Amino acid sequence: MKNIVILISGRGSNMQALLNDQLNCNIKAVISSRTDAAGLDFAKGKGIPVAVVANRDHPDREHFDAALLREIDRFDPDFVILAGFMRILTEKFVMHYKGRLINIHPSLLPAYPGIHTHARALADGVKIHGCTVHFVTPNLDHGPIIIQAAVPVLDNDTEQSLSSRVLHEEHRIYPQAVRWLCSGKVRLGMDGKVISGSSSNPQGSSLISPSLEVT
Ligand code: GRF
Repeated sequence: MKNIVILISGRGSNMQALLNDQLNCNIKAVISSRTDAAGLDFAKGKGIPVAVVANRDHPDREHFDAALLREIDRFDPDFVILAGFMRILTEKFVMHYKGRLINIHPSLLPAYPGIHTHARALADGVKIHGCTVHFVTPNLDHGPIIIQAAVPVLDNDTEQSLSSRVLHEEHRIYPQAVRWLCSGKVRLGMDGKVISGSSSNPQGSSLISPSLEVT
């Protein structure tokens, strides 16, 4: 069975979704970049070893990433899962885990990389928004895509209502992505593209927003 380590910085609801799922892997540890991350208590309650590598204890990104890498590698992970991990990682760190470092982002990448994704989607008036699980590459929020979920944007949406609709989907697609990775069904190919044995059912799977009127 594959080993995974989950990295968090705060609330940790995606980590909770992973811990509550029937994953086909060993969750070796949850590591936080903040001592006060709420998600740490949940992980402890599930009997998962937790650790903190606090970015504020290190003078710069290079030192922080080196300390984080040392802590992660104590658990010998096959995959490192970023679940609301709010630090930008150095290229050296990312390349150390090439093909093994996974992130979830609250937009339909490549739209809206970076922060404030829901507010930006609302400001642009897009009718469909969503979330993406992808391999991490040095180019922030641009790595090869494993799975995405789309949601409609409603006329009366606020940042809060839209983010909670997206988050609901995050909690569905992240466990699926991790299951695919741990079974070997999905992996990163030598050419930097995702190799996937997962299938899509094109029948009735479109999302039209706003909905078509029934005539
Ligand atoms: C999620 O929206 C995730 O996509 C983004 O940060 C948020 C973290 O939420 N990277 P949580 O800590 O998993 O609840």
